[in-house]
Order: sequence, then C-alpha cells, then structure tokens
Amino acid sequence: MRDRTSPLALFAAALLLSGCSGRPSVFSPGGPAARSIGNLGAWVVIVLSVVAAVMMVLILVAAGRRRGTLEEHEPVGVGGGQTWILVGGFGVPVVILFAIFASSLVTESRFPLHDGQHYKPDIRIIARQWWWEVKYTGDGPDQQVTTANEIHIPTNWPVEIELESRDVIHSFWVPSLHGKVDVVPGRENHIRLVADTPGRYQGMCAEYCGTQHTNMGFVIVAEPLEQYEKWRAHQAEPALAEADPMAAHGKQIFETKACGLCHTIRGTRAMADVGPDLTHLASRSAIAANSFPNSRAWLEAWVTHAQSLKPGNQMPDLAEMRGDELQAVAHYLESLQ
Ligand code: CUA
Repeated sequence: MRDRTSPLALFAAALLLSGCSGRPSVFSPGGPAARSIGNLGAWVVIVLSVVAAVMMVLILVAAGRRRGTLEEHEPVGVGGGQTWILVGGFGVPVVILFAIFASSLVTESRFPLHDGQHYKPDIRIIARQWWWEVKYTGDGPDQQVTTANEIHIPTNWPVEIELESRDVIHSFWVPSLHGKVDVVPGRENHIRLVADTPGRYQGMCAEYCGTQHTNMGFVIVAEPLEQYEKWRAHQAEPALAEADPMAAHGKQIFETKACGLCHTIRGTRAMADVGPDLTHLASRSAIAANSFPNSRAWLEAWVTHAQSLKPGNQMPDLAEMRGDELQAVAHYLESLQ
C-alpha cells in the first residue's frame, strides 16, 4: 500500500513538533519579549498564509478558465485588468507590508535593549571563535565571576547584558527569550533578558562566523532568585581543593603541561584566557560551547581529539596526554564543581 501522508500534514506536524521537542523555538517563549515576538511571528505567518492561499486560488481559477490550445484562440487582449494590478499588485501588498512593518516596530519599541543613561551591565559577554565568555560584573571582586557558555539568570528580573566580540561578527540569540543581537568587534551592543518561567533555554550564534559557527551554542539557565544567588556565590569562589591524590596529580599536570597556557582555574597557577575559564567546569552541563555532554568520556575525548571533534577551534589535540595522565586530568576536571 502506498504511503498517503500528505506533505501538508507533514509540514503541520513539523510545525507542531518544533514547538515542543525541547529545541529552541520562537513559539515556546519563556519571557515577555519572546512572547511578543512569537505572537508577531504567528500573526505574520497567518497573514502570509492567507495571501498565499488566495494566490493559489486565483492561479487555479485562471488555469481552469483556459480552454483549448493557443492556436484556437485570438491573441489575448492587452487592455483591461488594471484594477487587478492596482488592487492586488499594489494596494494589498502595500497595506499588508506596512501593517507588518508597523507591528514589528511596535513590538521592538516595547522591549528597549537598554536603559540609556544609567546603563550598567549585569553581565558582559565576549563572543569568541567559537564560544562565549561570560563575565558577571559587580562592585566587589567577590561578585565578579567569569564562566563560559552557561549563563545563569534570576527569573522575573531584567538582566542587562553587554555584548562584544574578540574576533569576527557573531550574533547572540536565545529564541525562547528574545530576538537576535549582533556582536560586533570594537562595539558594545546590548540586550535585556527577562525570563518569567524557570528553565534551560538553548542559545546559539545566529551569524555565520567561521567553520564552527554551528557549534557555538550556549544555555541560559533561568532560576528563582535565591537559587541564582547561591549559584553565583559559589561561582565567585576559587576552585575547590583537590579531593584526593589523583585529583592533585591531575591539577599538577594541568598547571605544568599545555592546559595552563590557555585556561584559567582560579586558585591555581593556571591563569591564561585563550580558552574558557574552567574554575567550576564540572558545574556546567556541557563542554565545547554546548557541543558535547560534560562527562568523563567526552572530557577525555576533547582533551586528546579536540580537532577531530570541532575542527579549526583553538584547542589543540593533546595527543601526548594518555593513560594515567589523561585519567588524572579528567578526574581533576570532573572534581571542579
Ligand atoms: Cu559565532 Cu556564528
């Protein structure tokens, strides 16, 4: 028997599933800005679907009216039809496009990117090829936190974010929370995120920025204020002391071999900023800009085969790291809660 699933049904199913599969979607908002943008998007889709349907009907009607071959007919008169062109080709599109433009402006104006004069960012994000450096600002050093690719924010609280780029143009996008904002070298752009529903919101880079553009993900973790403050206080602390001899061995390798030349682990001798700050690496859910799960196997694979897993990124393959050494380093990294 032939499969009779219609393409339309497949399309409808795809649309529905895209909203509930856990993938980032404009149509599953977690905050007021995304809700407005989602509504605007739905409205535009509906209006344009109606336009497309009307066009289809008109084309079918026109096709149905033609009878016989071209030779059997007199040449089609060139006169007439001006009303169709004026109304359908000019009037209707102008009205619809203007309405879409105006409602986009209204939506945008309801969510200013920052306050203007007294602006002070809560978080400074620096886009890198291909990961996100995240710096929580604060008056005291005990409030300043550097992390990467996992951004915690309190719910129901406007979070001011300042974005800059260290290399090329990127674009910061959390579909379930807000629209996109370009991240441009030599310039500071801003966005204010408000999440009213706790949850994990996937973010991505939305501007092609090199070979690993696709693997430049991040996650926004929106949580109640109390939980957020606990997280932040913990992140501000230096790395935990090594818990056992194996971790101590791993730490010593980290500090003395290649690792410490690129990474920081606060409280140790590793203080470079070429790669992500790893002080509390084990508290993050993923590694390599949200590309792989943060597990022992992936950590070991990443240390030794970063170039096969994410070709072109700045982390070299540390092929010389193997056996006991590799296990000790991975064990140490896993202990950095
Ligand atoms: Cu960064 Cu695309």
